[in-house]
Amino acid sequence: MIRSANKQDISSIHHLDIKSYDYPMEIEFFRTKFSEEEDVPCKAYLATIQNKSVSYIMLSGTEILRLCVTPKFQRKGIGTAVLNHAENNLRNAGFRSVSIVVPECHCNKDNPDDVSVFLLVNYYLAKEILWNKFDMYGRNWDGYKFTKGLK
Ligand SMILES: CC(C)(COP(=O)(O)OP(=O)(O)OC[C@H]1O[C@@H](n2cnc3c(N)ncnc32)[C@H](O)[C@@H]1OP(=O)(O)O)[C@@H](O)C(=O)NCCC(=O)NCCS
Repeated sequence: MIRSANKQDISSIHHLDIKSYDYPMEIEFFRTKFSEEEDVPCKAYLATIQNKSVSYIMLSGTEILRLCVTPKFQRKGIGTAVLNHAENNLRNAGFRSVSIVVPECHCNKDNPDDVSVFLLVNYYLAKEILWNKFDMYGRNWDGYKFTKGLK
């Protein structure tokens, strides 16, 4: 089941983030995002299986800020389903494109951390390099911006 998330879900979302990302966000990040006023249908969606949270997506406007599926449930189509859900709601609200910025990636199918394959199979196109966008593991990493048109 995929549903809209709200402030009451911050703890679950943070927990998913910690389990799924090598470089998780602080809980303050989510508190701040949920307190910001925005002109989008919803800022975040949560996927649950038997009442257990397994995935979430968070948006700022038409930019995807975070999307993850807890490792045990990866490669079962959940990431694609959550992404489609958010895209459909943006489309129905009249938005015409959606984007995501991820750290350097190279379409390497043998690298389990390379999310570019996931983005490409979901019809996102690499559009732009944002130099030194991420500060992680003691150095700066470029951000690759992927965009998809919503018709
Ligand atoms: C990226 C992520 C959200 C994908 O979620 P998911 O539920 O596992 O993805 P799906 O099952 O919907 O995958 C759909 C297709 O994308 C591709 N794909 C997904 N993950 C991949 C990976 N790690 N490596 C290569 N291809 C991948 C595959 O083609 C897959 O189809 P297949 O399983 O039939 O081969 C998940 O791996 C994750 O949470 N990663 C850690 C957090 C992260 O990097 N988030 C950034 C998201 S852009």
